[in-house]
Amino acid sequence: MKKFLGLNKVKTAIFISGTGSNFKNLYKFSLSKNSPIKVEIVISNNSKAKGINFAKKKKINNKIFSFKNKIRDENKILSFLKNRDVTLICLAGFMRILSKNFIKKFSGKILNVHPSLLPKYKGLNTHERVIKNKEKFSGCTVHYVNSKLDSGKIILQKKVKIAKNDTPKNLAKRILAKEHQLYIQAISKLYSNH
Ligand code: GRF
Repeated sequence: MKKFLGLNKVKTAIFISGTGSNFKNLYKFSLSKNSPIKVEIVISNNSKAKGINFAKKKKINNKIFSFKNKIRDENKILSFLKNRDVTLICLAGFMRILSKNFIKKFSGKILNVHPSLLPKYKGLNTHERVIKNKEKFSGCTVHYVNSKLDSGKIILQKKVKIAKNDTPKNLAKRILAKEHQLYIQAISKLYSNH
């Protein structure tokens, strides 16, 4: 397996809005020699995001942009990322929709993880809807971000079997654990030979 040293790692920004378990997981992965990425910065629209506390504790660069003025904040983020040579953005529970212009500037370089087997169950409350529809399987997807919600090209998916007595909460927990594995696999698949 190829080994990556600090200098040849892809500088990555992680965008979060909440707990940030995917962010923490990617950060831990990024510290290993097998990781093609380095977490350069974590960006959030929510100053109270738990993931931001983690970033502060670990002294990871972090920045809050409220997104109240989306265009202004996106432009600030774009120049900020450019100055830091960031070439990959990983969305991880980021609850804002990025503009077409922003996505174009990072075309093919924005990834997202979504807790369903896309193209099924785009958007919010996936686990509730999956259970209500009596689906037998759900899962998670890592995909490229394009200008339509949860619709970019799929990179990897993982299936999870739904048990009869599953609640949205325990299904979410099982799927989240798979998301953590899948995000790392997807990044390795895309960047291991960069
Ligand atoms: C994950 O289920 C992710 O798929 C979805 O939001 C959740 C974020 O969880 N987009 P966390 O903040 O990474 O713990």
